[in-house]
Amino acid sequence: MSTPLLNVEAVSRVYHSLGGMFSGKRHNVRAVNQVSLSLAEGDVVGLVGESGSGKSTLARMIIGLEQPDSGQVLLKGANIHACRAQQLRRMRQTMQMVFQNPYTALNPLQRIDAAIVEPLVNFKSLSQKERTTVAVRALEDVGLPARLLHAYPHQLSGGERQRVCIARALSVQPKLLLCDEAVSALDKTVQAQVLTLLRQLQQRYKLAILFISHDLAAVNQLCDKLLVMRQGEIVERGNCQTLLSNATHPYTQKLLAANHYLEGVGQ
Ligand SMILES: Nc1ncnc2c1ncn2[C@@H]1O[C@H](COP(=O)(O)OP(=O)(O)OP(=O)(O)O)[C@@H](O)[C@H]1O
Ligand SMILES: [Mg+2]
Repeated sequence: MSTPLLNVEAVSRVYHSLGGMFSGKRHNVRAVNQVSLSLAEGDVVGLVGESGSGKSTLARMIIGLEQPDSGQVLLKGANIHACRAQQLRRMRQTMQMVFQNPYTALNPLQRIDAAIVEPLVNFKSLSQKERTTVAVRALEDVGLPARLLHAYPHQLSGGERQRVCIARALSVQPKLLLCDEAVSALDKTVQAQVLTLLRQLQQRYKLAILFISHDLAAVNQLCDKLLVMRQGEIVERGNCQTLLSNATHPYTQKLLAANHYLEGVGQ
């Protein structure tokens, strides 16, 4: 059997914080508890769960921004938390992240062309001509006109900015994209367009996507598989459509009800 693109093996993360202002007691939060998952090339997996269930903590450990207390994250078989900085940089070429807020994700003083090539110039030096070629191609990929190359973020709409963030993540030709609430700040119409775009890019580049969202309708539009997280653990997993139309775990049923989603699924 070939090595999966991403293998997360029993990762856990506990945060220690002070308790109430007056008690001064230390309070431990088990943000992620023994989570395992695996993604193959081209897999599109949704990760849902209520606020505070540990989704972002898990994503940060997968991308290497945070160290697990135990367990390991293997990217193409290599443990990302055990490698040196240079190796980690190389791994970032395989895996990129898109965050929730396209307003804060872009530097307001940086033009769009520079923003797009930024991850790439971390890996190799490019001439000005090569930078422009990469940036134009990336803009085309996400359905934006080349005239935006010289624009600043404040001159773009929220949807356009999020497309730029996706273009930037794709500039290094990653195999895995982690999206943490990447469409949550967008209105429904733009959200649907960005989801369609992600699906097209996934098919074109055989991208694997781990798509974190509160929004079960968005997850249903994009994802093939689904993971349901609760209090740091994965409580249900399986085919996305099947799970959303026939959830067996009471927590997943509650999530569906909270999303006012039960009546719309499977029709
Ligand atoms: N840096 C931190 N220090 C202390 N506690 C933290 C830290 N980051 C997260 N937590 C706690 O860990 C738990 C999981 O948080 P996390 O941000 O992973 O949840 P989430 O599922 O992404 O929530 P949301 O849907 O609101 O984004 C929460 O109880 C949170 O308060
Ligand atoms: Mg989060």
